[in-house]
Amino acid sequence: MKMTGSPTSCVDAFVSCSLTRIRRIATDDLARLLVNRVPAKTALEYDFPAVPLSRIGEQEAWRKEVHRPATSTHKWWAKRLGSVFRGIITAAVTETQSDALAAYSSAARLDGLTVFDPFAGSGTTTVEALKLGASAIGWDINPVATLVQRQAVQRWDMSELIRAYKSVEKRCRAEIDRVHRSDLGEPVLYYFWVAVAACPVCGTETRLFSTHVFSQNAYPKRVPDAQIVCPACLDVMPGRYDFSELTCRAGHQVKRTGAVTRSSMTCPVGHCSKVTDALGGHPPRYEMYAKLVLGVNGKKRYERINDFDRALYAECVGLLQKCSDDLVLPVGELDDGENTRQAIRWYFGEWKDFFNHRQLYSLGLLGRAIREVNANESEREALVALFSGTLEFNNMFCSFKGEGTGAVRHMFSHHILKPERTPLEAHPWGTPVSSGSFSTLFQTRLLRAQDYKVSPTDQVLSAQDVIRVKGLSLPVESSVIKEWPTRGLVQGAVYLRTGDAADTDLPEASVDLVVTDPPYMDNVHYSELADFFHAWLRVIKPYSAYPCGAISTRNAQEVQSASPEDFEDAITDVWLECARVLKHNGLLAFTFHQARLSGWVAVVRALAKAGFVITAVQPVKGEMATSVTKNGVEPSNLDAVIVCRIRDSSINDHASLTEPHEAVKAAVRRLQALMAAGVDVGPGDIRSVIRGHVLATYTSQPSATDISKLAALADAEAAEQVSCLLR
Ligand SMILES: C[S@@+](CC[C@H](N)C(=O)[O-])C[C@H]1O[C@@H](n2cnc3c(N)ncnc32)[C@H](O)[C@@H]1O
Ligand SMILES: [Zn+2]
Ligand SMILES: [Zn+2]
Repeated sequence: MKMTGSPTSCVDAFVSCSLTRIRRIATDDLARLLVNRVPAKTALEYDFPAVPLSRIGEQEAWRKEVHRPATSTHKWWAKRLGSVFRGIITAAVTETQSDALAAYSSAARLDGLTVFDPFAGSGTTTVEALKLGASAIGWDINPVATLVQRQAVQRWDMSELIRAYKSVEKRCRAEIDRVHRSDLGEPVLYYFWVAVAACPVCGTETRLFSTHVFSQNAYPKRVPDAQIVCPACLDVMPGRYDFSELTCRAGHQVKRTGAVTRSSMTCPVGHCSKVTDALGGHPPRYEMYAKLVLGVNGKKRYERINDFDRALYAECVGLLQKCSDDLVLPVGELDDGENTRQAIRWYFGEWKDFFNHRQLYSLGLLGRAIREVNANESEREALVALFSGTLEFNNMFCSFKGEGTGAVRHMFSHHILKPERTPLEAHPWGTPVSSGSFSTLFQTRLLRAQDYKVSPTDQVLSAQDVIRVKGLSLPVESSVIKEWPTRGLVQGAVYLRTGDAADTDLPEASVDLVVTDPPYMDNVHYSELADFFHAWLRVIKPYSAYPCGAISTRNAQEVQSASPEDFEDAITDVWLECARVLKHNGLLAFTFHQARLSGWVAVVRALAKAGFVITAVQPVKGEMATSVTKNGVEPSNLDAVIVCRIRDSSINDHASLTEPHEAVKAAVRRLQALMAAGVDVGPGDIRSVIRGHVLATYTSQPSATDISKLAALADAEAAEQVSCLLR
């Protein structure tokens, strides 16, 4: 590895001053500090810059898609912070905190270094490795993840991409516009729908509103104007967000609260029942009740639904029936699972049930235009990925966020598939003022990703501020290699693959660093959710190796199980493969946040079985800070970066985590440093970090340690430190 070049461009004059400072650090130190391998003692293990990286990460976490647009062209869950991963990689090739930070903040080039991410997801590691000039390998068992990751690195010819986009537009836009218009011919941005269910006691049809305020400002105290619907006649009228009662134009008394409270409903006669009992064994019927029109004067107008709107929708129902063989439509059924169960409880059986008829017709036309577009492979694939990303905002699980914010609350704002009682139907092609439409996402996702891929930015510390600079990193654009090249990876190459990371074609001892973010035992079930996209993608075939024949992306080898035993077995297999492909002096580093003690136990046992010793546990900024407990899981702000080396006779020199009480002290020191620097640290974070440190000691002497006793100690220490540190 050597340090080459210096920053070539920067965002503005202010940034340019700061770069001068960074460059000085770089020229003085970098050539000396970057050696051509992972040092025997790394900053990642012994002197990790957790505080500065957490400060930078905090900034990135607010707008990940703005700071890391290459990996943001499509939904993937649990995307990690690119800045933290750049920090991990640079700290793995340096020996001290100041060297690590200098490498992080400079035009460091890790020539000849190979970085492997076995659980690659959207490609966070891959992109950061390429930006530093390393070669990157990204495996993921899910083909939708591979699609997202491919967009992060694949080279696009912009004139070809724009030409292909225009050709798709020519083929389908006029018809999509036609079926999203008012009787005056103006575009309709959004249609508002409400689920209807019959009361199980008296059979009265009940509109499942929880409130009759269907649109209000994101800051209602500042802007109290709201839109109100009458549940009896669906009249739409302006009012205040906090109104208590008003009379509609047909004389009905309208109260603010609707028929539904949580999972119960009260019919107009007054019977109370569970909503799911009222569904009667099929998904809810939906009724359209309002629309948001973009007037010719450029102003938006809320209006009630009229005969024209109903006739236009009925026409779409007919067109869908007539053309269905010719359109791209989703195929496949929902299988039971942790994340699909709620939708199944509402009787959603097939993926196409997630869309109304106009959505299926319009998306079907758009999907067909993209499937058949005459374009080069990677540009066509980018449009397919964009189309797939658009689906997230164009289905009946979306809802209205309100005025003064991006209008569409996409379906994955919860990690489960949660049916929506008042869905929002958007114009899928969109207008310049739309949110989540194909045309707006083309700008905000693809064009932004392209800019970043050609000329990436990084966030660095400058005095007390975090600033964004250009010119440190190399472009990430690359051609993707589909299998291990017989002569090995060349400099800066990227090898991406869909498959079980427990069984790769990588040669033994071919990788310097494994940097990853494994699934967390009880969190997101990726394939259950990814199947929503796969149901469409398999009909379009985004790239040649895409498994169009597979009815689901679920895979028995996927590391994901609520059972600690199954999780441990599956992750052990991947760690064993990592140990095989890792060079003897290499490092495995992964981020982990685990609310459950059994999750920590499973992961340390798996590491020990695979022949790894944990040499450090470094808490650092992880997810966006949240303050609410969800499903009994404490909010988290920190991840632990777990650093491991392959066990051998010299490993005891490395193992700093050998004694549980010393490990607690180390954990407390690290947590206190973060807290002193103002990083938000909650009880869930403390519990996770203390447990991780104590349990890490197991890997130094697995055969001589009673893991149940150690786990009990970890728990007791965690409880004690929560009260000490938060006192
Ligand atoms: C926490 S996510 C990684 C997210 C990623 N760090 C990002 O920023 O997008 C874990 C990933 O592991 C993948 N995975 C699960 N089991 C796997 C296996 N056996 N082999 C390869 N990938 C697997 C899942 O599909 C998922 O994308
Ligand atoms: Zn009733
Ligand atoms: Zn009314």
